[in-house]
Amino acid sequence: MDGKSGMGKDASRFLRRTPLCNPINLPTPMADISTSAADKKEKEYFSSIPQDAPGFFLKGSHQYDWGLKNRLSKVFNPKDGRTVMLAFDHGYFQGPTSGLERVDQTILPLEPYADCLMLTRGIQRSVVPASTQKAIALRASGGTSMVSLMEEWEGEIDGKKAKFSRPGFEPLSNESTALSIEEAIRLNASVLAVQVFIGSAYERQTLKNLTDLVDGASRYGIGVMGVTAVGRAMARTPQYFRLATRIMAELGANVVKCYYTDTEFETVTSCCPVPIVIAGGKKLPELEALQMCYNAIQQGASGVDMGRNIFQSDAPISMMQAVRGVVHESLTPDEAFQLYNDLKAKGTR
Ligand code: R5P
Repeated sequence: MDGKSGMGKDASRFLRRTPLCNPINLPTPMADISTSAADKKEKEYFSSIPQDAPGFFLKGSHQYDWGLKNRLSKVFNPKDGRTVMLAFDHGYFQGPTSGLERVDQTILPLEPYADCLMLTRGIQRSVVPASTQKAIALRASGGTSMVSLMEEWEGEIDGKKAKFSRPGFEPLSNESTALSIEEAIRLNASVLAVQVFIGSAYERQTLKNLTDLVDGASRYGIGVMGVTAVGRAMARTPQYFRLATRIMAELGANVVKCYYTDTEFETVTSCCPVPIVIAGGKKLPELEALQMCYNAIQQGASGVDMGRNIFQSDAPISMMQAVRGVVHESLTPDEAFQLYNDLKAKGTR
C-alpha cells in the first residue's frame, strides 16, 4: 500500500523486518487487528468440527449450481474430496524456471498422476494435448515479472546517507486479470486461478481482479481459485493466512490456495469456509515435502497444488505418485517416502 491508502499496524505486523524497511515513513497506524474490540474475546476455531455440506462432498460447495458442482467434481475426487493439482504455471512471471524449461519433456509424463493441471493458456494450447481428461485450473491473472523491482530510494538518517525500500510495495503485486471469460470457456477451464496480494502494494487491485473473475466465471458455472501470494516482505504466519484465505473466500473464491504453516494450520483451514489446497513452495527434501502434505491433509487441507517439489525432484514421476499416495491413499510420510524410493530404484524418473 502507499501512503495514501495507509499502511498501519494491520499490514506492518505481517512485514518481515529487513534493514531496508522504513518504519519512520509509515502513516498513522490503524487499530491492530488482534486488539480490535471484536477480537477481545478469545478466538474459537472449532477445528475438530467439520463444516456441514449437506448433499455434496465438498466443503462450502453444496449450494452451487449443477455446472459448477460438476466442474469442482473434476478437480476434487468425489470419493475423498481431495485433489492433487500439478502446478506448472510459474512461467507466467518466472519464464523457464528450473524444471519447466521444456514442459513437454518434464511435465507431460506427470499428467497421468494428476487430478488437475494448473497452467497458463499459452502452455495449455501449445503443449498440453486437447485429449487430456484432467481438470484445468487456468491462470487468469498476470502482468508482472520476477524482475520487477521493489521500490527503493536513497535518503538520510541523522545526516548520513542511507538506502530505504518499502517491503510490500513490490510491483510484482501489480497484476491485472489476464484472461477473458470467453477464453476460459474455450479452454474448458474448471477453475480460474488468480493471485491475491493481501497487505501488499496492490492489495485492492488484486482483490478486484478476484471479484471481477468471480462475477464473470460464476455466470458460466466456472470456479475461481484465489491464490495467496506472499510478497517478499510478508511473513508466512498462521495469522496472515487466516486473514488472506478468509478474505478471498468471503469475496467469492470457490477454492483457496495458501502455504502450509508449521503451527496452527488447522485454524487456517477451519475458518476458511471453502476448500484449501496447499502450494508446495521452494524445493524441500522429498521426505519433508511428503510430511508437509501429510500434515496439511490431517489438518483440514483438501489437497495440494504443488509444483517445484514435484518437477524439481530427482525423480518427479516417483514423487508425483508418492504425493498422490499421501493425498488419496492415506499413506504416512514414511510409507510415501518408501514408495518414492522404491519407484526411483526401479528406474522411474
Ligand atoms: C505461483 O505463483 C504459482 O501459482 C504456483 O502455481 C504456485 O506457487 C505453486 O507452485 P509451488 O508448489 O512450486 O509453490
